[in-house]
Amino acid sequence: MDKNTTNAASAGTISLGGELSVHRLGFGAMRLTGDGVWGPPKNRKAALAVLRRAVELGINFIDTADSYGPHVNEELIAEALFPFPAGLVIATKGGWNRPGPGQWTHDATPAHLRQAVEGSLKRLRVDRIDVYQLHIPDPVVSFEASIETLAQLREAGKIRLVALSNVTQEHIERARKIVPIVSIQNRYSFADREWDYIVDYCEGSGMAFIPWFPLGAGKVAGDVLNAVSQAHGASPIQVALAWLLQRSPAMLPIPGTSSIEHLEQNVAAASLGLTQEEYERLAGVPQLVGSR
Ligand SMILES: NC(=O)c1ccc[n+]([C@@H]2O[C@H](COP(=O)([O-])OP(=O)(O)OC[C@H]3O[C@@H](n4cnc5c(N)ncnc54)[C@H](OP(=O)(O)O)[C@@H]3O)[C@@H](O)[C@H]2O)c1
Repeated sequence: MDKNTTNAASAGTISLGGELSVHRLGFGAMRLTGDGVWGPPKNRKAALAVLRRAVELGINFIDTADSYGPHVNEELIAEALFPFPAGLVIATKGGWNRPGPGQWTHDATPAHLRQAVEGSLKRLRVDRIDVYQLHIPDPVVSFEASIETLAQLREAGKIRLVALSNVTQEHIERARKIVPIVSIQNRYSFADREWDYIVDYCEGSGMAFIPWFPLGAGKVAGDVLNAVSQAHGASPIQVALAWLLQRSPAMLPIPGTSSIEHLEQNVAAASLGLTQEEYERLAGVPQLVGSR
């Protein structure tokens, strides 16, 4: 793999709701914050450089959330890349707040989601958010009420496409009765396939599946992965990413990194083709269930 000629376009493209088309290897920006997804990144200049390099390498799908930092991550994306190049799609999320380092609290009430969308519009410096994901269903708020709010914000032109994260098939079916859903973002990697059935469901329903922790938070490992990676002169992480891309045409991985070197390695994995035999050997490896 030549890192100088590598480009996210090698992963092919995927349509989001028949409206937007992106390369099938994106970037998850969450790591570009302080420890515990709290506050600014230690090295702001380096974080801005990672975002700019991602776009240079053909990445045109960036995942973020209002809660990363909080707010810091969306502001950083705008600082690095605004005015956004044509074709760059930014997917943000709301409904899952970050009150302190390592802490999460739900709020997917209609009032909060309305406020959250206004905040993301300002921080991203746009009139309309490309893709807005409900970060996670709120157990004390009617799921339909959260989705109806996003549908109304879409009607009002503040959101272009609606998406979900951390959901079951039942949630997806309930949401799709209210508004078209373009993608599902659940935890998934080579080593953690709990949501396999949702990957298949997305593939069969024309939605993208966006795995979070696609590298198992950088910890994917194992003998088969090592053997296949040696055969390709690649790293185990690159093979884990290539496996994900081969798993389904609906798959849109968003590996996160704060390092340009790792970013380049991850993009290079888009051109790493596994044989069917290698793919199946890797698919047969017993899974570990990861944790947030
Ligand atoms: N919807 C949700 O609830 C949810 C939850 C979590 C995450 N997310 C999204 O999913 C994205 C991806 O998840 P993630 O970033 O947490 O985990 P990940 O992509 O599975 O792994 C990122 C980790 O792997 C390391 N890494 C990346 N590339 C590497 C390489 N080539 N070699 C060695 N190490 C490498 C990174 O460290 P370095 O910085 O040192 O490279 C980082 O620690 C996030 O950025 C976020 O946008 C969503």
